[in-house]
Amino acid sequence: MVVLGLETSCDETGVALYDTQRGLLSEALYSQVAIHAEYGGVVPELASRDHVRKTLPLIDQVLSDASLHKTDIDAVAYTAGPGLLGALIVGATVARSIAVGLGVPSLGVHHMEGHLMAPLLSDEPVDYPFVALLVSGGHTQLIRVDEFGDYHLLGESLDDAAGEAFDKTAKLLDLPYPGGPHVANLAKRGDPERFSFPRPMVKQPGLDFSFSGLKTHVGTCIKQLIGSEQWDEQSRADVARCFEEAVVDTLVIKCRRALKQQSVSTLVMAGGVSANQRLRSRLDQVLASDGVRVIYPAPHLCTDNGAMIAYAGAIRLSQGEKDSLSPEVRARWPITDLRSPYSETAA
Ligand code: KG4
Ligand code: ZN
Repeated sequence: MVVLGLETSCDETGVALYDTQRGLLSEALYSQVAIHAEYGGVVPELASRDHVRKTLPLIDQVLSDASLHKTDIDAVAYTAGPGLLGALIVGATVARSIAVGLGVPSLGVHHMEGHLMAPLLSDEPVDYPFVALLVSGGHTQLIRVDEFGDYHLLGESLDDAAGEAFDKTAKLLDLPYPGGPHVANLAKRGDPERFSFPRPMVKQPGLDFSFSGLKTHVGTCIKQLIGSEQWDEQSRADVARCFEEAVVDTLVIKCRRALKQQSVSTLVMAGGVSANQRLRSRLDQVLASDGVRVIYPAPHLCTDNGAMIAYAGAIRLSQGEKDSLSPEVRARWPITDLRSPYSETAA
């Protein structure tokens, strides 16, 4: 089955073709970063309009790259939420129109299920159950995955997501949007010992996160450095490094706790922040000594993309799932509302 996947939940138009026999056939991504950069964040209306401009040309591109014709498409999967409502509506409308025109099924896919499946797009099989760390701009969640579609929330951020903390810290450091990769880059030249930033909620039991206090701490530290005339390039790098260390430490501590609590020996990490090299290497290093296997997506599949939607959609479509006559898109949609397509009670 050849599935066309469309991702338009935020500021990236991602399109891909996935074949359940041959794997990923082609993918294309257009990032709107340049459009939103001057506003310091995503402007929803501009995002929707740009998805309108880019989605169809990108579909033509992936078809041509895979040497396929529109009529070779057997189903269309698109992101139905969570995300920006207008942006989601663009992807859903294009997807459903193509599906109706071709007489094939369409299916709305959960964006975070897409992220969760991205590491499994590589050919290494993963055994269930596993613990997933979903770390993106909107989510920081620890989830126990018993099988595809069977998700149990173990903990989540009570305020800012990890990616959001990176983005807000980037603003404080005068770095462009989206801030994560810029903070990580600056942090490379920083001294990890210079400031001691808090590791939020690690002393309390449980698996929830809270990152908003950390951003306040960074802000106060920068003000003090400016006040004492020590606000130079090295200080900026030191702040970036100490912030990154605090986030990475907090995530590593909670992942380890979740794996122990659940007696699970596989960790799957996904979402934009999973591209962070320091987080990847620290998790590898710490969890290897616990005998835990850590799996994360190829770097280009960490952030939003069409391949993850085509893949997650293909799994559900192969089990016979498809849109109802009145499908919806949802700005908010807890992943734990999903059901396994393999269970008898699946909708
Ligand atoms: O998953 P994603 O592309 O979009 C959402 O679904 O939110 O994640 C985007 C987030 C942004 O907050 C971005 O700053 C962060 O992922 N990010 C990173 C890195 N690359 C992207 N954060 C830290 N280090 C990175 N290398
Ligand atoms: Zn995402």
